[in-house]
Amino acid sequence: MKINNAVIYFFGALGGLLFGYDTGVISGAILYIKKSLALTPMAEGIVVSSILVGAIIGAAVSGRLSDKYGRRINVMIAAAIFCIGAIGTALAPNTGILILFRIVLGVAVGCASALVPLYLSEMAPAKIRGALSSLNQLMIVTGILIAYIINYIFAPIEGWRWMLGLALVPGIILLIGMIFLPESPRWLLKQNRESEARKILQQLRKDVGVEEEIADIKKANSQETAGWKMIKEKWIRPALVVGIGLAVFQQVIGCNTVIYYAPTTITKVGLGDSAALLGTIGIGVLNVLVTILAVWLMDKVGRKKLLLVGSIGMAVCLFALGFLSKFGGEASGYITLACLAAYIVFFAATWGPVVWVMLGEIFPLGVRGLGIGISSVANWAANLLVSLTFPSLLAQFGNMLFIVYGIMGIISFIFVSKFVTETKGRSLEEIEMDLKKKSLVRSTKTEVKQSAI
Ligand code: BGC
Repeated sequence: MKINNAVIYFFGALGGLLFGYDTGVISGAILYIKKSLALTPMAEGIVVSSILVGAIIGAAVSGRLSDKYGRRINVMIAAAIFCIGAIGTALAPNTGILILFRIVLGVAVGCASALVPLYLSEMAPAKIRGALSSLNQLMIVTGILIAYIINYIFAPIEGWRWMLGLALVPGIILLIGMIFLPESPRWLLKQNRESEARKILQQLRKDVGVEEEIADIKKANSQETAGWKMIKEKWIRPALVVGIGLAVFQQVIGCNTVIYYAPTTITKVGLGDSAALLGTIGIGVLNVLVTILAVWLMDKVGRKKLLLVGSIGMAVCLFALGFLSKFGGEASGYITLACLAAYIVFFAATWGPVVWVMLGEIFPLGVRGLGIGISSVANWAANLLVSLTFPSLLAQFGNMLFIVYGIMGIISFIFVSKFVTETKGRSLEEIEMDLKKKSLVRSTKTEVKQSAI
């Protein structure tokens, strides 16, 4: 069956919506779960963060499995797990079962975080790969916004089971959609299934440049091993450093202290509950609007420049948040709101989408799934660390805490300037060959140095 390309990219990115919905919905739902299941503060923390633990597990297994068994089938399994998690959390009779199914949901979220960027980057043509891959982030932030809206709608009836259960709808849509989607042509070529790969590429590229692309993919992969053996090879190391570095910096620069805890921060500086709620929805809307801009910027400005601008922009907002709110009296509430909004603008235009786009681009085909999987595990582990420690650190240090995240912003700038290479406009195979070449140059330089000694 022939499917329109736009439909392929839409369903390819849809896993991101579930990622966003399931991580965003808990902020509202937890208020009523707390009452209805009589949670202790400790149990409350576990219910909220158990999804992150599951995500670490999902990210750890899905990348490797997708290198072995294909991208598509693994997205389908993730969709099925999303559905099970949604039903399980919505019907949970007690805290234990709720936590169990939050972990199950997390597994699906972790899978989606690794598989969606992988699938999109391998389907897209080089020239607009940035835009198509950042559809993933657009889905993530749309999912978060939908979750905020659903929370708002069901708040009057304290309907936390509805809030959690409604994730079943996109879960089922994703599951059905993936049945009709094609497998990644790059993965098929790695399996020597050339004629299937050719057919899919012919459709995706409307018959333009297909033979050249196949020849390039084959050339880049001619003598490769794969899996754990390959990822330990020296020439892959720079990609791993960049992958893990980007993934960790995206979190330690504090994005989820804003996304998950914006209402807490806003009420702490003296604004009321309704300002907090409005502020949260406002942040959700801003996040979506600016991400749309980022989709457009990605292939024009390039990934590296966006990351650098983002690091500085976010660091300035965080320093302002840390220093200014200390002096401001009543005005400090509005300063806080303005800083949070400006921070979100910078994050949504840069580090939010760029990190997931680049994770889909920097690893060679033989370890692409595994590499994204490892980086994604690092992302979720850093997320868990920051989100678990934020409330107690904020209670202890107040808004001065944001200065620490600001310093991380400065370090991330140095990291990007030193280690990240631009990927805009280059095919995945060119990026792979470049990695190999650079490693050759490095080892020749070392040999020359050694022989000079
Ligand atoms: C990050 C998430 C974050 C989301 C929100 C993603 O790129 O990985 O941790 O919650 O963006 O915008």
